[in-house]
Parts: sequence; C-alpha cells; structure tokens
Amino acid sequence: MARHLITSALPYINGIKHLGNMVGSMLPADVYARYLRQTGRETLYICATDEHGTPAELAAKEAGLPVDAYCAQQHEAQKAIYDGFGLSFDYFGRSSSAQNREITQHFARQLQKNGFIEERAIRQVYSLADERFLPDRYIVGTCPHCGYDKARGDQCENCTRVLDPTDLIDARSAISGSSDLEVRETKHLFLLQSKLQGEVEAWIDEQGKDWPVLASSIARKWLTEGLHDRSITRDLEWGVPVPADTWPELAAEGKVFYVWFDAPVEYIGATKEWADELPAERDWKSWWYEATDVRYTQFMGKDNVPFHTVMFPATELGTREPWKRVDYVKAFNWLNYYGGKFSTSQRRGVFTHDALEILPADYWRYFMMANAPESDDTSFSWELFSATVNKDLADVLGNFVNRVLSFSRKRFGDEVPAGSEAGAAETELGREVARLLAEYEAHMEEMQFRKAAQALRALWSAGNSYLETKAPWLEIKTDPDAAALTLRTAMNLIHLYAVVSEPFIPATAAAMRSAFALTGDDRTWVTQDEARSLSSVPAGTAFTVPPVLFAKITEEDLESYRERFGGGDEAA
Ligand code: MF3
Ligand code: ZN
Repeated sequence: MARHLITSALPYINGIKHLGNMVGSMLPADVYARYLRQTGRETLYICATDEHGTPAELAAKEAGLPVDAYCAQQHEAQKAIYDGFGLSFDYFGRSSSAQNREITQHFARQLQKNGFIEERAIRQVYSLADERFLPDRYIVGTCPHCGYDKARGDQCENCTRVLDPTDLIDARSAISGSSDLEVRETKHLFLLQSKLQGEVEAWIDEQGKDWPVLASSIARKWLTEGLHDRSITRDLEWGVPVPADTWPELAAEGKVFYVWFDAPVEYIGATKEWADELPAERDWKSWWYEATDVRYTQFMGKDNVPFHTVMFPATELGTREPWKRVDYVKAFNWLNYYGGKFSTSQRRGVFTHDALEILPADYWRYFMMANAPESDDTSFSWELFSATVNKDLADVLGNFVNRVLSFSRKRFGDEVPAGSEAGAAETELGREVARLLAEYEAHMEEMQFRKAAQALRALWSAGNSYLETKAPWLEIKTDPDAAALTLRTAMNLIHLYAVVSEPFIPATAAAMRSAFALTGDDRTWVTQDEARSLSSVPAGTAFTVPPVLFAKITEEDLESYRERFGGGDEAA
C-alpha cells in the first residue's frame, strides 16, 4: 500500500493570509490528510512559511525589525492561526531553515554538475547611496506605458505590464528614495530550463494525464510558450547563499538564490526539519529519494501551478537524482469576496485571524470546503455564509445531535437505551447510510471536495428524515421500546457522523465522539458493514449531552459582520 505525501503551497511570510489563500491550499490538504489517516493510510502532511525574497525584506523594514526577527515572529503568528483552524500538519517548517539551505545548495551543485546552470553577465540598476543592486521591487519609478509614478521594477500595478527595472523613467531606490542610480554589469546564475523542455513535456504527457484540467491545461500552456532560461540568483541580504565551493566569486559578492528557487525545495527541507526532531524514528529521505512507494499530492491555487508542474519538476529532473516528483496536482480557482478580489494589500475580505475571532474554525472549514472553488471561481458573501451555517450545520447536524441526546436522556437516563429489535425502517436506513457513505468516500478519494461535502450533508439529512418518520416523541406515548430503538439507532448515527465528519469539522467531531463513553481509537473509519448495521454504540453505553454544537448566525450578527468587513457594496 502506498504511503501518502501531501504538501500545500507554502504561505508567504509577510502578512496574515485571507480565506481565499486558505481554501486553495492548506485547508483542502488538511481535509484530505485527515481522511487518509482515518482510513488507515500512512500519511505525511508538510507545509512551511515561504520566507525569502524582496516582499519579506520590505515588510521587515516596514515593521522596523531585522528580517530574521521579523520572519521568526510572523512564522509563529501564522502557525498559531493554522493551529486554530485545526490544520493537522505533521510539520510546519520554515524555508529559512538550515535544512533547506543545505538541500537547495545541493540541488544547485547538481544542476551545475549536469550542465544546467550557466553564469551570465546582466545589466542591473545599482544604487550608489545604498551601495547595492536594486532587484525587482527595490526600485520604483514612472511607468513608460501609462505614466503611473509608483511603478515597481518588476511590474506596473496600474497597467499590470511586466517591466524591467531599467525601463522605469525617473527611477529611484525604494529603500532610500535616492535617484543616484547607475546601470552596472553583474553576474548571475541562470537555470537552463530550455534544455529540459523535452523531458518535462514527456513527464507531463505521462504523469499529467490524470490531473484535473485546471492543472494540466496551465502546465501545457507554459510548455507551449516554451521554457526559458531564467535567472535564479538575486542581490539580497536574505536568502539561501550561493555556495562558495562552487561559485566563489558570486558567493563573495553575497548573492543568494531567488525565492522561487529555494521555496519548493523547502517541501523537502521541511521534511528533513521534521525528521531532525526525532532522527531515530523518522526518515525524511525515504519520502523523497527513490521513494517509489510514495504517492505525492500537492495542493495550490492556480497561480502556483506553473512553478509546481513545470519549473520545479524541471529542477528536479536536472539534478539527475531520483527525487520524488509530484503525482497529483490539486489546483483551485479563486474564492472572491462579493464577486471582487480578496486583497491582502487592500485588506479587502476576511482574514484568517479575524475569522477565528468571530466564530470557531469548524464553521469556516465546512463553509469553505462546501463552496470550494474547484471548477470555477466562487464568491464569499456573509449571506451565503450564514445560510450555510444555519442550515447545514445548525439545523441539519447540530439540532439532530442535541435533540436526540437530550430527549433520550430525559426519557431513558444517561445510558443508550436498548428497546426493541431493529425493524424494516432501520434496515432501510442502514442501506441508505451505507450507500451515502460509499458516495462520500468515492468523492474523498478523488478529492472532489464540494461533492464530498454534499454527500456528507446527505448523510446528516438521512438522520433527520429517519427521526421525522419514526417520531420518537410520539412513539414514547404508546410504545417506549419502539422509541428507545429509534433513539439508539439515532445515537449510532451520531457516532457515525462523529467519525466521518472529522475531516471537515474536526473539533465538533471530537465533541460528538466524546459524548459517548467508548474506549479505543474511535476515529477509525466506518466500514460498510458498520454503517449498515448502525450498532457500534451498544445499549448501555453511557453518554452526555454536549453543549449546542453550532449557534445560528442571527440578523444582528450578520449586520455587524457586514459593517466590520464591508458588505460588498464597494465591490467591483
Ligand atoms: N509563497 C507562494 C505563494 O503564496 C507559494 C510557494 S509554494 C512553493 O504564492 F512551491 F514555493 F513551495
Ligand atoms: Zn503602467
């Protein structure tokens, strides 16, 4: 049986992420990882903060902190939020780790050895006042196309045209504002991706045929445009240094690798960070090197697809070493906010720390997965959010659980009642539950999360229908044994829900499971037979009534959320 390696795109270190980032990478990866673990598959879920690059350096400057201190602080802040969301990383690492430095440098040496790296002299802007080269965003000026006067060296925000820093008119340093600039020649390392085009193409023909269209079409588009050689070093303080043993001159000049060169390597680096914590028990290399028994699934938003399906695989191929390449790419479209973009820079939309401040993680987890932007962009609105929470979570699931447990407790005390033998209604229910469970599992295996959420909701609904039909509150008046059977069956449903809802709503699932005084690892997935017989919680099992699982969102709540976050009136 295959071991499962899962990674989600590494969140940039600068700034708290919004729900749109979460739903396209970490959250679905977590849902899948939890499902695999519960169904008995060996699973390793790795993520990390992506810490290098100019955005990190500039954000640190703005925060008035040295970049390493800034990153350490932001890493902890992000980690706390992901804990709050119940993300079950096996390890959450940092791309600035020693492990990543070591492996990134190893990759570069291998690429050099195999003729895939070349030193080229390029002309770059140098700031005399700052005594340094100004890469990418370190240089601002007037856009030659539209006249916008705060265009960055890599792109004009106003007209979105991609720029070269030397294109800018009245260019000045973003650090000091000085316009005492000159163009100097400097050497950088180039990755000769063009030499690897054929191999990457062949690999995608083979591996990419089972990927979702979103991933494979983006990969193909990039390949059709042709793989260009690209510069993989920068003149920055903060980054993985170019190793002096291989490039003494560049190392002496303080060059570091470009962030997109070392970030994907951190998937491996973080696995080593994980193993280095318990070296006697954990073997990072077995997950990544000659790992033929590993199935590797990556989760990411669509903007990340080219790097993961084309560039990083090219890098891996170029090492001429058997590094594990991705088997399956699960890519997502955008989650919008009232039809417009979530925006980190404009602080538009719901950010992860704000979300947790308002409501527990499970409300968000369920909502996001039930509306995941799988086949298209989807839109967040407070109205849709509260309708989903109130209907699916509060009415269909929460109310069922509380109704059944409180009623049984009132009539039969604090143990699961025995009652009569199961009859035709229970057989019918068991069949339906087993069928829906199979459907749910099939969608989870395929990572079709919206469909999986629908099947899960249908499972919850089946309980409501059964309860309405049997009406134990009426049965109790004429036939208490019949009522007891209905309640015992319903309690078994609750336990089944507690197990199979865990990937989506882990905290609530745990609360539901702990209502019953059962022993053993009660997260273990339900078999078809168990689902059909609905008898894993036997009569006589003690139980408690948990507090209300999901509170309804009221009109007043809605009003206050709209006010705090904007109700979309300003949306495009
Ligand atoms: N930090 C990037 C982003 O948020 C993703 C990096 S993924 C990895 O878009 F490949 F670098 F790991
Ligand atoms: Zn412009």
